[in-house]
Amino acid sequence: MHQEYGGVVPELASRDHIRRTIPLLRKALSESGRSLDRIDAVAYTQGPGLAGALLVGAAFAEGLAMALGVPTIPVHHLEGHLLSPLLSRRPPTFPFIALLVSGGHSQLMRVTGVGQYALLGETLDDAAGEAFDKTAKLLGLPYPGGPALSALAEHGRPDMCKFPRPMLNSGDLDFSFSGLKTAVLTHVRELGEPDEQQRADIARGFQDAIVEVLVKKSMRAIKSSGLRQLVVAGGVGANRELRRQLDERAGRAKITVYYPEFEFCTDNGAMIALAGALRFQAGVSLKPAGAFAVRPRWPLAELMG
Ligand code: KG4
Ligand code: ZN
Repeated sequence: MHQEYGGVVPELASRDHIRRTIPLLRKALSESGRSLDRIDAVAYTQGPGLAGALLVGAAFAEGLAMALGVPTIPVHHLEGHLLSPLLSRRPPTFPFIALLVSGGHSQLMRVTGVGQYALLGETLDDAAGEAFDKTAKLLGLPYPGGPALSALAEHGRPDMCKFPRPMLNSGDLDFSFSGLKTAVLTHVRELGEPDEQQRADIARGFQDAIVEVLVKKSMRAIKSSGLRQLVVAGGVGANRELRRQLDERAGRAKITVYYPEFEFCTDNGAMIALAGALRFQAGVSLKPAGAFAVRPRWPLAELMG
């Protein structure tokens, strides 16, 4: 639906949410073999995200909970991501370091337990997935660009295009990827009309740069934490080159890297349900169904305050 626009169109997304929500609930109930009267509470994403899409989910969840006479649990989207590895067949144990790399976020976090998250570093501009998508678009690849760009990179030759490694030696755990995208743009302009091999070389150079930064910063985060478990979540975590290099570096340092199943890495409802269930068990964040507000911008730090 969004492909022909080269990115997500907010209004189309929220209208599509309206069409899909009730059929999705029916499907979830029938596949899990649960009926509505067995539901103790309704968790939903309160933010951050696109206001329109959040409103559809929140209004639906609050209405459902009100009809069932159960409380609601508004959940922070990133908390869902941080706890999602626990849904995995081979879950890590608390505490662990999480590298969260998706179309919207690039962050390193320390996850100590439910509700105990420390932000160690994050992107100052574009997210890693966003950089993949924008660079892919520049090379004429379809959206979302990450998978297409990494497939093209497999045909690229090493070191033909050497792009900058933004903030590699900044001494902190922050990222910046917008300069990398500009470097690619400048290079493409210099070439005029790059041929197939040149495009593959550019894709390779871009991927090598971004992967090196992600791997080095993740290793720095885990080493300074003294922990031994690194979790990689978010769509970019599917990148094969990232996995290969992380496994190699981590293996040498006796660090275990966890890659949750892809369906739990990318945005999903199960991780929000899990975060809600854990908060329900702990007796925190429950509220009576009814009035609500969404939070399109919601710093994770506020969740812990
Ligand atoms: O977590 P996700 O599914 O959705 C959110 O953004 O929350 O992440 C999507 C991002 C897109 O930017 C997509 O291009 C990127 O993940 N992605 C990849 C790969 N597969 C998906 N990036 C690099 N290599 C991949 N194989
Ligand atoms: Zn997400």
